Amino acid sequence: MSVQAKRRADYQPPAFSIATVDLHITLHPTQTKVISTLSVTRNGVHDTPLVLDGDNLSLDSISINGTYLSDNEYTVTDSALSVVTELDEFVLEITNTIAPEHNKALEGLYLSGGAYCTQCEAEGFRRITYFMDRPDVLSVYTVTVVADKSVPMLLANGNPVDKGEVDENTHFVKWHDPHPKPCYLFALVAGDFDLLTDSYTTTSGKEVALELYVDKGKKSQGIFALESLKRAMKWDEDVFGLEYDLDIYMIVAVDFFNMGAMENKGLNVFNSKFVLADQKSATDDDFFNVESVIAHEYFHNWTGNRVTCRDWFQLSLKEGLTVFRDQQFSADMTSALSNRIKHVRVMREHQFAEDASAMSHPIRPEEVIEMNNFYTVTVYDKGAEVIRMFHTLLGPDGFRRGMDEYFRRHDGQAVTCDDFISAMQSATDIDLTQFTRWYSQSGTPVISVAHSTEVNDDGIVKHSFTLSQHTPATSDQKEKLPLYIPVNIEIIDDEGKSYTDNESLIKNGMVILKDDSMRFTVEAKTTNLTPVVLGNFSAPAKVENPLGTESLLTIFKHAKDPFNRWDAMQTLYDRCVKQLEESPESGISNEIWNGIKQAIAQEQNNLELLGECLVIPSFETLCQSRSNINVSALSKARKAFCDQFARGLEKELLDIFNSIEQKAYSYTQSAINERRCKNVVLAHLARLPQHEHIVVSQFDSADNMTDTLGALGSAQHCSASTFDSLMAQFEETWNHDPLVLDKWFALHATQNRDDIFATITMLCEHPQFAMSNPNRVRSVIGSFAFYNSEKFHAVDGSGYKFVTDYLLKLDAVNPQVAARIVTPLTQWQGYASEHQVHMKQQLGRLLNHKGLSKDLFEKVSKSLA
Ligand code: PHE
Ligand code: ZN
Repeated sequence: MSVQAKRRADYQPPAFSIATVDLHITLHPTQTKVISTLSVTRNGVHDTPLVLDGDNLSLDSISINGTYLSDNEYTVTDSALSVVTELDEFVLEITNTIAPEHNKALEGLYLSGGAYCTQCEAEGFRRITYFMDRPDVLSVYTVTVVADKSVPMLLANGNPVDKGEVDENTHFVKWHDPHPKPCYLFALVAGDFDLLTDSYTTTSGKEVALELYVDKGKKSQGIFALESLKRAMKWDEDVFGLEYDLDIYMIVAVDFFNMGAMENKGLNVFNSKFVLADQKSATDDDFFNVESVIAHEYFHNWTGNRVTCRDWFQLSLKEGLTVFRDQQFSADMTSALSNRIKHVRVMREHQFAEDASAMSHPIRPEEVIEMNNFYTVTVYDKGAEVIRMFHTLLGPDGFRRGMDEYFRRHDGQAVTCDDFISAMQSATDIDLTQFTRWYSQSGTPVISVAHSTEVNDDGIVKHSFTLSQHTPATSDQKEKLPLYIPVNIEIIDDEGKSYTDNESLIKNGMVILKDDSMRFTVEAKTTNLTPVVLGNFSAPAKVENPLGTESLLTIFKHAKDPFNRWDAMQTLYDRCVKQLEESPESGISNEIWNGIKQAIAQEQNNLELLGECLVIPSFETLCQSRSNINVSALSKARKAFCDQFARGLEKELLDIFNSIEQKAYSYTQSAINERRCKNVVLAHLARLPQHEHIVVSQFDSADNMTDTLGALGSAQHCSASTFDSLMAQFEETWNHDPLVLDKWFALHATQNRDDIFATITMLCEHPQFAMSNPNRVRSVIGSFAFYNSEKFHAVDGSGYKFVTDYLLKLDAVNPQVAARIVTPLTQWQGYASEHQVHMKQQLGRLLNHKGLSKDLFEKVSKSLA
């Protein structure tokens, strides 16, 4: 396969501009006609031809200023249309045909359960018509959608300006979007939906019509999304002074969607999973996700749409920033601590793993083959962590000044990460030069803490603390430079008293680590001081802090930062698992059990922190503090620790469970905390056969999906017969609702049972399953590959082979989704050699496959390089 990577360094400004785009689209499942009229201007003086991207298009005609071009005036290939002309300004009209019904990649114009729908980011517009498909070409769009009257609702970006009949059976709606935009923000939706309407008045008094389109019969499941939208609109006005800028804001929920949602100007398209929610069918996490994705797409209207990316290497410009904004919003709407923990789990489970693999890349990548492969946890989540560090360094006011300046300079432009940095620089005295390495350097820095003491004659103990940083080489970059790292830090003694350093390097609870290492000293009367490092996860880094059990428990008891307190327990559990990995027969010491019991007693009224502190780190998180992983040994040790945990703390766990009253459902933070804590505890108790009945009784009596699923998830640890019977009941109840069934699919696919492949094969034959629907594929195959660690990593390689067999089929249907699910296979570096051999063997099978997509090719070839 010969595919050419694009490099960030090779950026060239566009040779032409396209001020206006007039699209006339007549919808038909196999013969959609697109007439595109472009007003084109040559940029500067040059004689290069106008080159338009195209993919899977059939060209019908092309004219300039009304005259059809003859064959020698243009050339058309599989991927481009080039036009030779001497004119500096001209109107180009192109007519082409496409077949949405055959579009299974869900990029461009496709059919989702009978409705027409588009997805253009990153490079899908070229599958609709010939165009300069790059984000730095901004145009004003006018779009006429024509369809049979059996398709009643015809939507596109902007405001509706005209509608009417074409003939007895055909109608049209014409839309105009006054804001110049790149083509990746173009959208069209046409179908028959239920419509929820509402309105929002901005601070400056502008009334905005809100419209939410959902599948017929699902109206009541859209209410929460619409309420979330209004909260997001208000928040962006309050916190950033940003108002919405069109008369109408539309959201459409579709069942077939490759990603979460898409911020098309004025017409967001959502995976229905991030819109539909009600008490019966959605968990608290689902509600949370709906609100945060609704907010995310709304916030893009400014960070993404009004100011967009110059090229796709700058993706984090809009995504990192918008994720940070949605995280801040969610923290304000729900709780700062649980939000922070949630995001840190994502970083540790997925982003650190990506950095440790051959896909490692900086938040601003240097080289790309298939752009769809770079919608990554690095660009999004590490990108958001980098924005968060700006926020930490500049403070909320400084950050706001920087944002104001960013919009003042760049509203209406397509810009780079450097432009953002320079706006932030204008709002602070801190020199951000070194900080910008976070944009160019990949890998996870490791912060190591060293502590030594010296007792003086007068009995005063002089403590020296050294913080050092080191970023291990990554596959894309061997040499690493020191980063500019804000490290939240607190030095405490056994009673919880805080100390300041002699050098005053700790300011407002933070030090800046910018060299390879730094040292500061503290004087105290005690030899026992504990450094509490990286409060609130102040930087996307790992910490090596050699603390004993006692110090970890001191942190839990006394540290100011609740994140540090949670993290201390996570470290303690990680140590316990390690002990059982090394000596499986050993028992966890009483010091630890007593410490955990005390922690529980201390936090019995703080169910939020308590619930999170009772979660044992996931297998995936544990992997990040290990190398050469022997999967079965690690899984066994983790399971043994969970079992001992349930037995050792049975009474305490039962007490917590019983102290949380069963109340009628409400979606408030305190009720969410109660359900979360109760279900975490239930999952522990489920390991003890004498408590199986609690699981069953919660399943039977639950009035909401959080508790139903809490019981069902816990039942994974019960006897097979209990699990099977609850799963059968669940299926019977929810057979009609594919989004709920996805949860059921995922629970089956993550079961550690010997007949797992037969089970998955059966799931794939389920009447509600379809390989063409990404949500179904992710819930079965994705869940297996990402979260069924024991069976996916079976030492005979059968799990790897099973997933690969599936990917070979999926790649022909939907390469984007296939390339996402291959991720765990490409992360072989961390595992013991017997795993690596099998993983690479399957990657090799993929690489040798004829007709492999660019998407899979890029990830697989990198991984084997
Ligand atoms: N831009 C979308 C978001 O982050 C994600 C997306 C990318 C959706 C590519 C579809 C295709 O909000
Ligand atoms: Zn986004």
